[in-house]
Amino acid sequence: TWDHVQQAPPDPIIGVTDGWRADPDPRKLNLGVGAYRTEEGKPYVLKAVREAEQQILADPAMNKEYLPISGNPEFNRLARTLALGLSSPAIQQNRVATVQALSGTGALRVGAEFLSTHLPSSFPRIVYLPSPTWGNHKSIFAKAGFQVREYRYFCAGTRGLDFVGMVADLKAAPPGSVLLLHACAHNPTGVDPSPEQWKQLLEVTSEGRLIPFFDMAYQGFASGDLDADAASVRLFVDAGLELVLGQSFAKNMGLYGERAGALSVVCKSKDVATRVESQLKLVIRPMYSNPPMHGAAIAARVMGDPKLNELWKEELRGMADRIKLMRKVLYDQLVARNVPGDWSFVLKQIGMFSFTGMTRPQCELLVSKWHVHLTLDGRISMAGLSATTAPYLAEAIADVIKS
Ligand code: LMR
Repeated sequence: TWDHVQQAPPDPIIGVTDGWRADPDPRKLNLGVGAYRTEEGKPYVLKAVREAEQQILADPAMNKEYLPISGNPEFNRLARTLALGLSSPAIQQNRVATVQALSGTGALRVGAEFLSTHLPSSFPRIVYLPSPTWGNHKSIFAKAGFQVREYRYFCAGTRGLDFVGMVADLKAAPPGSVLLLHACAHNPTGVDPSPEQWKQLLEVTSEGRLIPFFDMAYQGFASGDLDADAASVRLFVDAGLELVLGQSFAKNMGLYGERAGALSVVCKSKDVATRVESQLKLVIRPMYSNPPMHGAAIAARVMGDPKLNELWKEELRGMADRIKLMRKVLYDQLVARNVPGDWSFVLKQIGMFSFTGMTRPQCELLVSKWHVHLTLDGRISMAGLSATTAPYLAEAIADVIKS
């Protein structure tokens, strides 16, 4: 029955970790997946998370009943408030439908399915993704029946934003198209629009009648400040736009494997939001019935308890600062080795990743000769680097760039 089934290729991001695991070389580095590591190269469980987890386990009222289809209501309320801000008109007017999601990916998948079913029938099922974007975006929207198109985003020459190209492509998009935007810390490029450019993007979106879908996987990771990193989403919501928002607590709370995330649809009125939520439940029920409780319970406690909240923010700043420090350390190492090219982009790029511009053959050589595991688009996870391993990486980059 299954004889005809073909071997699928490894996932371009998750597959990197498999390759790293199988590599017996002691010098091996995993700079593939975007997961924070300590200076010792170890996974980091936040103190706020450990404390919340202990409180949950000690709570006699704790049980393992099913959550509602839409998830933990307290988590949902706190998650959307974290994103939009307490004073947001949408929050104040109770016109945001939020459901718990299987982290950012699950939020995107449920959101895409909802849009595909419930956008007005006269709207095209087209989504515009930045070029390049997180590899999974394409599959997620294609699975939900969208035609996937790209808009210009990264300029290889300047290693910055191709803003003129981006605006031109968005102006040419048919009205009613979905526009996927990375809220902050663009993955994989680390290049974000400036506040002024966001204002112009708001105008283009609103004039072109595009449906914004914000993917916010890195709130707090760009600047270390949760509010500052949500500025783009808040700008759009405060201007009165209806939009879709996916949130992940994988990175900013280190809850990767707990799959804690949220999907919010900002609506025109409370009445619409209630109906939208009822339809989101119809999307979720036949997919996975209801979400897992543990990660959302942790996140709700960390967001809701003032002491844990402070501790979390401090740890979040600590993670963001360590990544920024790694940018400086790597940059200095590259300059000290006279590696050809202007590497100042390593300092300027935002968030977890540096998009190096290295070619696929150069990346393949990094893996095979130097045991530095990374995605073959030249993206390196700065969060996986330490002061001890940065000199080795610089040596490896110097070598593959020259050969
Ligand atoms: C990444 O881009 O490395 C992360 O978003 C992890 C993932 O699921 O791909």
